[in-house]
Amino acid sequence: MFGFPDKLTLFDPCKSVQSVSHFFWFFCGFAALWSLCALWQKKEDIQMVETQEREPFHWQSAISYKTRDKIVVRGYDVNELTGNINFAEMLHLVWKGELPEKNVAKMVDALLVCFSEHAMSPSSAAARMVMSGAGYIMPGLAGGILSIGYTHVDAHEAAQTWITAVKLMKEKGWTLDQTADYLAKGIRNKEKDDAFVRLFGERTVIPGWHHPQHIRDLRSPRIIELAEKFGVARDHVKFVVALENTTEKYWGRKLYMNVSGAISSTLVDMGFNPDECLAFCAIARSVSLVAHCVEEKTREKGWRASTKSKITQPLDLALQKPDYYDGPSDRHLSEGKIAEPLTRAPYHYMDPSKDK
Ligand SMILES: CC(C)(COP(=O)(O)OP(=O)(O)OC[C@H]1O[C@@H](n2cnc3c(N)ncnc32)[C@H](O)[C@@H]1OP(=O)(O)O)[C@@H](O)C(=O)NCCC(=O)NCCS
Repeated sequence: MFGFPDKLTLFDPCKSVQSVSHFFWFFCGFAALWSLCALWQKKEDIQMVETQEREPFHWQSAISYKTRDKIVVRGYDVNELTGNINFAEMLHLVWKGELPEKNVAKMVDALLVCFSEHAMSPSSAAARMVMSGAGYIMPGLAGGILSIGYTHVDAHEAAQTWITAVKLMKEKGWTLDQTADYLAKGIRNKEKDDAFVRLFGERTVIPGWHHPQHIRDLRSPRIIELAEKFGVARDHVKFVVALENTTEKYWGRKLYMNVSGAISSTLVDMGFNPDECLAFCAIARSVSLVAHCVEEKTREKGWRASTKSKITQPLDLALQKPDYYDGPSDRHLSEGKIAEPLTRAPYHYMDPSKDK
């Protein structure tokens, strides 16, 4: 029934449609022609978009804009900001989009101060080494910053861990202590179960924890104290405090959060994300990396590995004692400058009966 018409030579539409077969082939021919026309049109449309309608690439940004006569950051004229806000407030404005509350600004500022210098550490040593070879500031500064990551600072991993733990706590309806116990046990456990690894990875050390030189990092209790006092301490700060009290159960001795653990939990409580936590520390530490580079250049001979100079483990605490320091003697801020006196004992938040 659907065979070709008997005679293809004479095409008479009236006669052809007399049979179903002829009608079918007439319809097919029409549909094919119509499809070809549609395809041709589409090809032309695509060419039009490619050649005429697509805009050249440009960034779309919510951070700032500038014209010849104006620079506007997050909606504020930069000249209005200049002289009226401090650098901590500016950091918050640029990163988070809004000026911070007064107490958040004080805390951000305190954290920048706290992390800005720490004598010889991987970043200052790296900066000095690079400076001794390169001889100018940018490679030295970059070299120092590039050493910041997994074991030196580690604030991003720490922040992510606190965020995951607090989320888990809320999902499961656990207490802070129960959640801290779950994390400490999981990290200490050599045979980790899949559910734990999916959440916290395979690490066998707590991120943002323990200090190879101070053991009890001197800076963390001050940060926790101020976070509580300024009213910015929320679940993440409370969680690291609970975790500190849990470590003894699994390590046989208390392990203390280090400055990165304290900074990351405070920053997360103030709305910063893990990347920002690590970058925050790099920005604070850049202040001192510049000083180390300049001192290296002005005091030391270049090419540190020269055979004439003995090289020792440059981070050894024994080489950082006052004997090798010739800056100003120990001194205090003037009384008028002290807004937050050091009144509370270090580790006031810990249970002293468990302290060994
Ligand atoms: C910084 C770091 C590499 C220093 O390590 P270290 O002083 O050389 O410590 P060691 O490797 O000698 O470990 C000594 C003991 O402390 C334990 N320990 C050290 N850091 C630990 C941590 N963060 N969590 C749990 N246990 C830790 C080790 O397991 C070991 O205990 P064990 O002998 O019972 O197994 C290590 O503490 C670490 O990786 N910390 C996390 C990263 C971090 O916060 N870095 C910023 C440091 S300022």
